[in-house]
Amino acid sequence: MDSLKTNIFIIDDEEPIRKVLSTHLTKEGYNVIQSSGGKGIFDSLKAGTFDMVICDIKMPDIEGTLILEFIRDNFDTVPVIMLTGLTDVAVAVDVMRRGAFDYIMKPVKKEDLLNAIRKAMMHRGLLIRNRQLEKENRDYQLFLEEKVHERTKELDTKTRALEDAYLVVKSMNIQFATALAEFIEAKDRHTRGHCNRMRRLCVELGTAAGMNDREIETIEYASLLHDLGKVGVNEEILNKEGPLTEEESRRMKAHPEIGEKILMGIPLMEDVAKVMVAHHENYDGSGYPRGLRGEAIPLSARIIAVADIYDAMASDRPYRKGLPLEVISAEMRKVAGTQLDPAIVELFIEKKIYNATMEPQV
Ligand SMILES: [Fe+2]
Repeated sequence: MDSLKTNIFIIDDEEPIRKVLSTHLTKEGYNVIQSSGGKGIFDSLKAGTFDMVICDIKMPDIEGTLILEFIRDNFDTVPVIMLTGLTDVAVAVDVMRRGAFDYIMKPVKKEDLLNAIRKAMMHRGLLIRNRQLEKENRDYQLFLEEKVHERTKELDTKTRALEDAYLVVKSMNIQFATALAEFIEAKDRHTRGHCNRMRRLCVELGTAAGMNDREIETIEYASLLHDLGKVGVNEEILNKEGPLTEEESRRMKAHPEIGEKILMGIPLMEDVAKVMVAHHENYDGSGYPRGLRGEAIPLSARIIAVADIYDAMASDRPYRKGLPLEVISAEMRKVAGTQLDPAIVELFIEKKIYNATMEPQV
């Protein structure tokens, strides 16, 4: 079989008709395969290679419409031209409805036949091109999906790596801050363990106050480092048992601003510095260094002030044991509105934030 030629499968029980059609078509350059129909026709069709089918409707062994249906079901781009000896229009309409490309009345006129074949082949060309485009489209779609999938996977991996790196950096930062806080504590014998307890109280209290992750991170550093500025205060003043002289008090009160200066130049620590400098501000404006009042004091600083007072009263001092909770609560309520933010004091007591220092150390 010449693969470059168009292969036409002719199915008709009458040999003379097959012969005439075959002669016409061969002369026109088509390659012809023939069958008289019959039961074996489906096997022949299955095994064959053909571009179109010309099929008689009425044959003794098999209905042409069954062959038409078989081709429609199995070879969707192969056009079928039906031949009919009947002049019944209903039959023609019926075969077209079942998917025939065209039909031709017998006796077949050569011109009609060649015309129908040309149109059918054009139609087949379009169908094949259409199928190709659909396939290309599907392949491209799959290619894109694959690309998106790959890219998403890559991004996921990178995001995970970044998240891991961030966690490492964050943990290192907190460890450095803790080391720094412990260094300050070493200078001041009253404050052993104070910074770490502050961190836990303030994170709990900040969470209870509805702070977001970023604010919690800020308060975590600010609570650990709130007394960082004490590195600039003489140890004798820090550890003095009796009351401070005016000059000593002035130097002591400089520690929030010394701490602020130390942190101000460090990227991402500006927020921490702003909180740190305000941790001795009082709610009524009587604090230092700036005499800020009420909401003008950063929330984190108001929280630190509450935690700071609690921890000072709850810890043992050389001259007294830590005070009981009821006494501390009463004392805190006494200064709520003057020294402390009353809402934060109530939140501290109501939510039993003091429990944070009783849990095992993280
Ligand atoms: Fe302080």
